[in-house]
Amino acid sequence: MVDEAACRKSKMTQPLIIANWKMNPPDSKEAFDLASEIKKGIEGLEVEVVLCPPFVYIPQLLPAKTLLIGAQDCSWEQEGPFTGEISPQMLKNLGCTHVILGHSERRQLGETLEMVNKKAKAALAVGLLPVVCIGEEIEKEMNIVSRDIKNLILAYEPSWAISTSGGRAVSPEDMGNVAALMKRFIPSDTPILYGGSVDSNNVKSFLGPDLAQGVLVGAASLNAKEFIQLVKIAAMQ
Ligand code: PGA
Repeated sequence: MVDEAACRKSKMTQPLIIANWKMNPPDSKEAFDLASEIKKGIEGLEVEVVLCPPFVYIPQLLPAKTLLIGAQDCSWEQEGPFTGEISPQMLKNLGCTHVILGHSERRQLGETLEMVNKKAKAALAVGLLPVVCIGEEIEKEMNIVSRDIKNLILAYEPSWAISTSGGRAVSPEDMGNVAALMKRFIPSDTPILYGGSVDSNNVKSFLGPDLAQGVLVGAASLNAKEFIQLVKIAAMQ
């Protein structure tokens, strides 16, 4: 069953800021302290913030009042003999609301667009919102990942724009062109995010009705002060 409340929430009016912590930080106390500082810093802001920590830190960060918690991947199965996998149902039962899927760092490990499509369907089936990352071959990716699916959140995040790969953010013009292209494949109220070297200096330039309705933030989300500043600027949009 699709969780209608969660899906309605995805058609948001506030900017959506998703923090992708990747495989950081190295210990649980640091993760707890980072999340606590962020929670305090964003209290009362008109913005939706989702922290996506490594799986092992999720239980200690929930319940998280001023923000939401998501995961960075999930299986397309709900339970069974799948060693090392984490199911959408498990994440939903913990209290997660979102799951990032098809990140370029996972696609480099062999994840295919067909797998991303299956994972997105499995996430939606239990009421988790899939945040599907699209990179370089927009039309091909959109065709496969959005096939038979209505309630996606999309993130335009070309691998060459990611900060840790020495990247540079795309221009707002490029973001606008890609958003227009993506909208040919999806309902017009589908949220589109931008990801890749987003920080407090450039976040504002990506947000707007014809640009992105939120951002996916990697490196800058691991520095509480920088991330809080980024969220404050997004909230003023
Ligand atoms: P970045 O990472 O903000 O460090 O470029 C974004 C991501 O990979 O999701």
